[in-house]
Amino acid sequence: MTQKSVSGAASRPGNFRRAASKVAVFIICLMPLAWVIWLAFTPGVGGSGLGPNPQEFLNRFLGDWALRFLLIALAVTPIRMLLRWNWVFRFRRMLGLYAFFYVSLHLTSYVVLDKQFFWDEIWSDIVKRTFITVGMASFVMLIPLAVTSTAGMVKRLGANRWRRLHQIVYLIAPLACLHFFMMRKGVQLEPMIYAGIATVLLMIRIWHRFRSRPGAG
Ligand code: HEM
Repeated sequence: MTQKSVSGAASRPGNFRRAASKVAVFIICLMPLAWVIWLAFTPGVGGSGLGPNPQEFLNRFLGDWALRFLLIALAVTPIRMLLRWNWVFRFRRMLGLYAFFYVSLHLTSYVVLDKQFFWDEIWSDIVKRTFITVGMASFVMLIPLAVTSTAGMVKRLGANRWRRLHQIVYLIAPLACLHFFMMRKGVQLEPMIYAGIATVLLMIRIWHRFRSRPGAG
């Protein structure tokens, strides 16, 4: 047996485990969507399991999950740094793309169900309602990150430029939290919890960056 085929055979179970874990995470990330589709087809108050105001329920549900996935994707690097769980890294791209996926559904539910394609109203909301302006800004900034998430794009841009571009997430996460905070109006616990988590995650990254600078103690 050649050296190559021996190492190939040895890594096969590892490859299988890696692929299986990716498929498992992929399916788990689809669960919120499956759950809300299930609710939509379940009888309940106001006609379905989505309650008396289904479009508001759907929009908020998708917004919540967009923010959760954004924070989960943001947590990958700190988890890897602090716990040295290198294996979490392989899910980072998928988690980021799921954040983009749920934000896109959140935006779609707003355009289709809430505004029924009345583009004038949508434009006026974007311009006049600050929490929507802020949400839209975070969505627009997520687009280049989603588009450049492939290995091919990392190669084309070069690792440094790619990393610099993806640092925009340091702005997107606070803006997404601000969007939630402004939308709820007044001081409310839930948006504060999300903002607190985002702050801790960003602080860990900043602290790690300074610590790993040459010459830092
Ligand atoms: C990164 C981008 C975004 C994130 C993470 C996000 C997340 C959220 C969250 C967490 C909520 C509150 C849900 C709740 O009350 O439980 C929300 C509400 C809302 N978002 Fe977003 N959002 C984003 C972008 C957008 C965009 C682009 C639009 C539309 C242009 C938008 C429109 C809305 C509206 C209209 C509500 C309030 C719904 C209501 O009053 O019931 N969001 N969003």
